[in-house]
Amino acid sequence: LTVVLLFGGRSSEHSISCATAGGVLAALDPERYTVIPVGITRDGAFVLEDNDPAKFALNASALPVVADNGTRVRWPESSSSRELTVVDAAGARSLGSVDLVFPILHGPFGEDGTIQGMLDLLGLPYVGSGVLASALGMDKHFAKTVFQQAALPVAPWRTLTADDWAAAPDMAYTALEQLGLPAFVKPARAGSSVGVSRVSTPDQLADAMTVGLAEDNKVLIESGLVGRELEIAVLQGRPGEKTRASLAGEVVVSGRDFYDFAAKYLGASGVDLVCPAPLSPAELAEVQGLAIAAFEAIGGAGLARVDFFFTATGWVINEINTMPGFTSISMFPSCWLASGYTYPELIDELIAVAMA
Ligand code: DAL
Ligand code: MG
Repeated sequence: LTVVLLFGGRSSEHSISCATAGGVLAALDPERYTVIPVGITRDGAFVLEDNDPAKFALNASALPVVADNGTRVRWPESSSSRELTVVDAAGARSLGSVDLVFPILHGPFGEDGTIQGMLDLLGLPYVGSGVLASALGMDKHFAKTVFQQAALPVAPWRTLTADDWAAAPDMAYTALEQLGLPAFVKPARAGSSVGVSRVSTPDQLADAMTVGLAEDNKVLIESGLVGRELEIAVLQGRPGEKTRASLAGEVVVSGRDFYDFAAKYLGASGVDLVCPAPLSPAELAEVQGLAIAAFEAIGGAGLARVDFFFTATGWVINEINTMPGFTSISMFPSCWLASGYTYPELIDELIAVAMA
């Protein structure tokens, strides 16, 4: 099977995507898969990358990147062809016929339906959610709207555009007053906590809006919830099989404001990932049911990680990630490892479901 591993990309999560690709490259059995690593530079050029997991390992002091090496990967010319071509100084050569694309991309221009739309146009099968579910999962405003419509619990929020903030900042202060403190300001379409701020006093709002609006022209102000932070990994079943939910992973934050980018990827202290998290069988069954319901509410495919708060009044969905982080320290593989898979088995399963 010839698999294109697509990673990097134009979003602020470029390096996290590279780190995930490093893990997946290491796990793809060369006896079963011919892997074509295609990197997307921060500028959006498709380049032929090295099949070198070590090159993309997560390194806090030098985050991995896709550099422009001068090659250009050309997608098939029409949906009747699956031939991938690379052009470099020596000319053009075929990379072979593609069976499947594994788009390990996080954030806008990758996890938001744009790449998925391109692959649909080309008729190339791919791992993970399609256009609509990817777009919904990427946009925190619309994901929450869909969850609410499906009677799934979400934290109260207001959405403001850059224009709202410029024209009537009092709208944001009123929203903050109504939502209560602490609150979180989040870009609508970003991930890995990039652009997210915790607001504990009203005078922190302006900076938080500036940071959030640097990532997107739309931000959410959300009530900060008090409770445990737990995550469930979801895998679509094979044809005729049900969607599966993993054991729960817990993010235990101590001595840190929240589970921010530094704690996620730079090894900053104050956060521990615990999997499986201590929950009663009934609590676990309930959150697993909510995770699958969230996946189905957006029409997800392949995989997702659904993040929750377990509050005094019950479970609240924080968000869904249609292409969750997959580095060796990430929660998605950890949850499946705790649930009985090995990392290579997990990758095999994702590929098998996408090909089915
Ligand atoms: N957005 C990051 C990669 C995650 O959800 O894991
Ligand atoms: Mg996310």
